Amino acid sequence: MDRTLVILKPDAVQRGLVGEVLGRLEKRGLKIAAMKLMQIDQETAHTHYAEHVGKPFFQGLVDFITSGPVVVAIFEGPNAQPIVRTTMGKTNPVDSPPGSIRGDLAVDLGRNVIHGSDSPESAEREIGIFFKSEEILNYTRDVDRWIVE
Ligand code: RTP
Ligand code: MG
Repeated sequence: MDRTLVILKPDAVQRGLVGEVLGRLEKRGLKIAAMKLMQIDQETAHTHYAEHVGKPFFQGLVDFITSGPVVVAIFEGPNAQPIVRTTMGKTNPVDSPPGSIRGDLAVDLGRNVIHGSDSPESAEREIGIFFKSEEILNYTRDVDRWIVE
């Protein structure tokens, strides 16, 4: 089954939006395969955002993502990676339609509440940064037959 990495960024935790955002992804039909509250250190942030090294916003992005606790989770389901991205909205909340997480809960590019992997390859890489294999649980839900044909 497809898996993707989600981070509820420090703004989501500080604003009390953890339940709201996780709830939206759960209600979409995705299954939580792993989850933890943690504070990301500088080294892990650099590894996670390696594609953005050298860009003008990089240091601000690292400072922000390490600035407080985050919730890191793996969501599982068919097409989990693109499903999470469309549920999130666009990178900039200004471009995110109402109904999306960023379109309903955010106004600023640098405080956009949630990270989701941007490709299946990124998902695999990012899951490896944040979770050991024994932290990822395999289980079935009775409801899954009402979610996937
Ligand atoms: P994320 O990685 O956080 O899920 O966001 P994303 O894929 O939608 O966007 P990405 O291009 O990967 O950028 C990562 C984060 O960097 C900040 N950003 N700032 N000032 C800028 O031009 C700029 N561009 C990106 C955003 O906070 C974005 O979420
Ligand atoms: Mg990204």
